[in-house]
This record gives sequence, C-alpha cells and structure tokens, in this order.
Amino acid sequence: MDSKCAVIYKSKYGSTKCYAGWIALKLGADLYELSDFRIRDIKKYDTIIYGGSIYFGKLSGIDFLVENYDKLKDKEVVLFGVGIDDDYKFENLDDFDKFYLRGSIDFKNISITDKIIINYLRSKFSLKDEKLLSTYENIILNQIDSDFLDKKNIDSIINRSKA
Ligand SMILES: Cc1cc2nc3c(=O)[nH]c(=O)nc-3n(C[C@H](O)[C@H](O)[C@H](O)COP(=O)(O)O)c2cc1C
Repeated sequence: MDSKCAVIYKSKYGSTKCYAGWIALKLGADLYELSDFRIRDIKKYDTIIYGGSIYFGKLSGIDFLVENYDKLKDKEVVLFGVGIDDDYKFENLDDFDKFYLRGSIDFKNISITDKIIINYLRSKFSLKDEKLLSTYENIILNQIDSDFLDKKNIDSIINRSKA
C-alpha cells in the first residue's frame, strides 16, 4: 500500500508556502495551509511534513504541533522552519526530524510593524563590529532584499521523506 503524505504549512509572507508547494509537488503529497487542516483528517496520512516560518526565534504553528503531539507521535513527522538565522535551534520537538530552510525578507512588502522592527534591529546591529556579525545580523543589515529561496534547499527533506 502506498504511504500517504500531507504537507502542512504556516506562512506570513509566502516563503514557507513556496517551499511547502515545492515539497508537496515533488512528493505527490496533499498540501494544506494550517488553518485549513482538520486534525481528524490526520488518520488518512502516514507522513506529516510541517513547515512554519520563524519569527522572533519561534516556529509559526508550534502550538499545533504541541497540542496534537499525541496524534502525531506515531506518524513519520518531518518539520521544517523557514528563516534567515542559519543557527536556528528548534525548541522541544525532540522526537521529530527537523530541517532549516533559508527564507527571505522582502522589505517593501512587509507590514508597517515589521518594518519598524527590522529598522530597529538594523540600527542595533549597525553598532556592532562588522566582523562579529552572525549570518542573521548580516542579512538584516546588508542583504535585506536578497531572494534566498532556492528549490535545491528542499533536497534534504525530499531525500529524508523517500528514505
Ligand atoms: C519582524 C521579523 C522577525 C523575524 N525574526 C526572525 C527570527 O527570529 N529568526 C529567523 O531565522 N528569521 C526571522 N525573520 C525572517 C523570516 O523568518 C523570513 O523572512 C521568512 O522567509 C518568513 O517566512 P514567510 O514568508 O513564510 O512568512 C524575521 C522576519 C521579520 C519580518
């Protein structure tokens, strides 16, 4: 019997949605925005791939994973977080395989509140010694509008899911 896979995502500006779409297409999986996914449908699937964007060090939708841990723990679960902090550490969720994928910030198209936060971070990081900047700080300061989305980034997840 073929194993069934669902890709579920939560994305604010589209990077995570884009990766989730690429993964679902490649694996022939069903694709859901988290708010459209009904937990009772989880029994239809053997594998759940969950992707969330990372904001303020937190994986979007982590509450869904924590609240439904009992229903998820007997499935194959693969998580991916999308952000710009290459050193991102996933909190808790030790039982699940986890992948980090590089996202992007399209400064022109983020909300006013997010622009204020990013501008605040820029002024803070600009006081730092350039040589000591982390990737995250360097992107916020110098590469804010770079498009880092790359289809090749999903390969590790595809290989893991086919294994
Ligand atoms: C206000 C703000 C806070 C962010 N905080 C983080 C963070 O803590 N860690 C990180 O890796 N990326 C952070 N990012 C970058 C986002 O994770 C990145 O833009 C990602 O691609 C967003 O995914 P989405 O387009 O699916 O919403 C932040 C971006 C914004 C605008």
